[in-house]
Amino acid sequence: MTETKMRYDPITISLHWATALLVVTLFGLAEFWDFLPRGTPLRHNLQGLHISLGLILTAVVTLRIIWRAGFGRRLPEIVSTLPYWAAKGAHYLLYCLLIGQIALGFLFRWAQGEAFTFFGLFAVPPAFAPDKVLAGTIGEAHDLVGWSIILLAGLHAAAALLHHYALHDNTLRRMLPH
Ligand code: HEM
Ligand code: HEM
Repeated sequence: MTETKMRYDPITISLHWATALLVVTLFGLAEFWDFLPRGTPLRHNLQGLHISLGLILTAVVTLRIIWRAGFGRRLPEIVSTLPYWAAKGAHYLLYCLLIGQIALGFLFRWAQGEAFTFFGLFAVPPAFAPDKVLAGTIGEAHDLVGWSIILLAGLHAAAALLHHYALHDNTLRRMLPH
């Protein structure tokens, strides 16, 4: 394989790092506004930003899945058997959790019945009538899935760094831009 073929294609790499950045920012925003008193304008604005960035994440994850299914470069496994299946399992689980979290995010906002806009440019129309009790349940699920993504992505990042610094193989490098 040539040097370029040893790496993922630029679109896969860009979509991967955009996903990582968005997920960490979305989580950080939610943890931060939790410290702010309810009803303050800053808390409200950070929630609006979370929803707008959440809509960008929805587009990025959709593109990523389409790209991966149809066009993205596939690379052979670096490690074999058990570690390989553990990594594959973690990747598929991350995709499932991301899709679930996006769906819960939409359901959450619809159940809250509050403004659902993309930076105020356009509004996502409501799919059902607001329901405060449902919003509470969905919110708990959204929180739990958010933590699960952060924990799993943390393990995933630790595995990538282990490959790079302890095993000295190409795993991390092939997901990095040139
Ligand atoms: C929230 C953060 C992150 C998410 C949701 C995430 C998600 C994913 C997913 C789903 C894949 C599988 C790609 C595919 O086969 O389609 C992947 C691959 C990869 N990720 Fe992440 N990732 C995150 C953060 C990171 C970080 C911080 C690092 C490095 C420190 C990293 C390094 C890698 C590498 C090296 C691969 C390629 C593995 C291989 O070649 O088999 N990721 N990531
Ligand atoms: C992986 C991505 C995401 C993470 C890690 C994440 C995480 C969180 C967390 C931890 C909360 C606080 C939950 C609570 O305390 O009840 C929250 C709230 C919320 N999230 Fe997300 N979220 C993500 C994506 C999304 C998406 C895609 C949407 C929808 C477009 C969304 C919509 C919401 C809404 C509406 C709230 C409630 C805000 C409010 O109380 O007004 N989230 N999110």
